[in-house]
Amino acid sequence: MSALMELVTLVPCCFFFIALIKFLYDYLWIPLRIQHMLNSQGIKGPPYRFIHGNNKEIAKMRQEASIKPMALTHDIFPKVQPQIYSWINKYGRNYLFWNGVRAELVISEPELPTIYLSKLLGKGLVTVEGEKWAKQRKLANYAFHGESLKNMTPAVIASVETMLEKWKGQEGKEIEVFHEFRLLTSEVISRTAFGSSYLEGEKVFAMLNKLSIIMSRNLYNTRIPLINKLWKPADMLESEELAKEIQYCVMKMVKKREDRVVNGEADSFGNDFLGLLVNAYHDSDKNNKLSMEDLVDECKTFYFAGQDTVNALLAWTVLLLAIHGDWQDKARREVIGIFGNQNPQPEGIAKLKTMTMIINETLRLYGPSNGMLRRVGREVQMEKVVLPANIDILIANVALHHDPQLWGEDVHLFKPDRFAEGIAKATNYNTGAFFPFGLGPRTCVGMTFATTETKIVLSMILQRYAITLSPAYVHSPIPIISLKPQHVIQVMLKSLHSDA
Ligand code: HEM
Ligand SMILES: *[C@@H]1O[C@H](CO)[C@@H](O)[C@H](O)[C@H]1NC(C)=O
Repeated sequence: MSALMELVTLVPCCFFFIALIKFLYDYLWIPLRIQHMLNSQGIKGPPYRFIHGNNKEIAKMRQEASIKPMALTHDIFPKVQPQIYSWINKYGRNYLFWNGVRAELVISEPELPTIYLSKLLGKGLVTVEGEKWAKQRKLANYAFHGESLKNMTPAVIASVETMLEKWKGQEGKEIEVFHEFRLLTSEVISRTAFGSSYLEGEKVFAMLNKLSIIMSRNLYNTRIPLINKLWKPADMLESEELAKEIQYCVMKMVKKREDRVVNGEADSFGNDFLGLLVNAYHDSDKNNKLSMEDLVDECKTFYFAGQDTVNALLAWTVLLLAIHGDWQDKARREVIGIFGNQNPQPEGIAKLKTMTMIINETLRLYGPSNGMLRRVGREVQMEKVVLPANIDILIANVALHHDPQLWGEDVHLFKPDRFAEGIAKATNYNTGAFFPFGLGPRTCVGMTFATTETKIVLSMILQRYAITLSPAYVHSPIPIISLKPQHVIQVMLKSLHSDA
């Protein structure tokens, strides 16, 4: 009898004791060991704090920066990433901080991005498992390169025409361009990648938009062990709900394609991006077959990556052209010189040099990407540093794009001219100083698509309107996944043709 009693108390005690040891191991021993390992190799940073890491400090700095008013300057690094800005100044260009219990190594030395971004893939160190990534990458490359892009031009032009039609009669009034470009870029990616109109994708976009706000709100939220298992915060429940609904929408679109083939209305699933995905989903070869889950993931990625980024880039470029009238005139002269009043054509688009310089300077100052994250899977030597397993690497491109030591004293000025003789010259031969679309094997698959779309949109606007900034504009860029205006971007349009 007493033996049983002993057992009844001993077992839970033991269990509790083991859980406690494991907890202290994960939340104290491991972080302190990683911290020691990196500190001893000269990499410093804010010290690890139990469970929360540095998240409370980060939240405070981000909150303060987001409400602090700023002048209309392009010196935005301290505003958009206050913690990175202040920790680089304090601890050096490469430093370690703690996102809860996860170690993140921030890299902003210009020699390193190329090395890290090319090596941290292909050696079993990837975020998405290697094989799956290669398969999806192949499909995406196929859908967004060369010939397929040429076929996209008419769809982009048609979408811009719809927008410009709405702008007629708005001359002299304020236009909110971030919103206008949100609709436009949604329409473009819907038409080109998914063969549908904005209306069909509208629900997906709305849900992805909500999801991105939730995600960026929780970027530096600490996950408390056990408690998170028992009690899910409202944000987590909502994002799970959103993810389910997105999955449902995408599956409906896939079903529609399948039905058309089954009913004999079409003889293939289509050759746009969605068509390629549905094809891969039906592939009988196991090596090429895509699961429904992966298909949905791919659609999510492309709806989001294809819209959100170009939306931001267009809005920031128009803001910069509205402020810098001289460059606006130069860009317009080039556009009229090449296209006259005709719609942009692929051959002409390739000749737009001034506009490319303007876009690159915008990408430098207001690039949509706020950093590139990689996970280190197992202990590995990178250059002189031995990286412990299971830490994250953040390549801080904003820091590099705004570094006066790389770009010179005029780093915070809008000077597209710095790109006149190409990127190498502009960056003083530091390839790791400018990479708005990433570097290495995982660079952006949509780069040509994005720049072509941007050039078409800007050309068609410049052919018709002179743009000035509204005095009501309040400058406040913030990172919500990509770099966005916190408020709105209001500009005024003046028609260049009396008949418009
Ligand atoms: C101005 C617009 C854009 C910018 C600045 C941009 C930026 C980037 C960057 C920096 C990366 C690398 C991320 C990393 O290394 O972790 C990336 C990857 C990616 N981008 Fe973009 N992007 C843009 C437009 C687009 C568009 C239009 C699409 C699709 C149509 C797209 C699809 C992707 C995909 C699928 C990846 C992941 C590639 C991989 O992991 O292999 N992006 N983008
Ligand atoms: C602009 O940047 C892209 C890469 O981001 C590069 O391929 C292109 O050559 C650059 N153009 C100019 C004029 O700097």
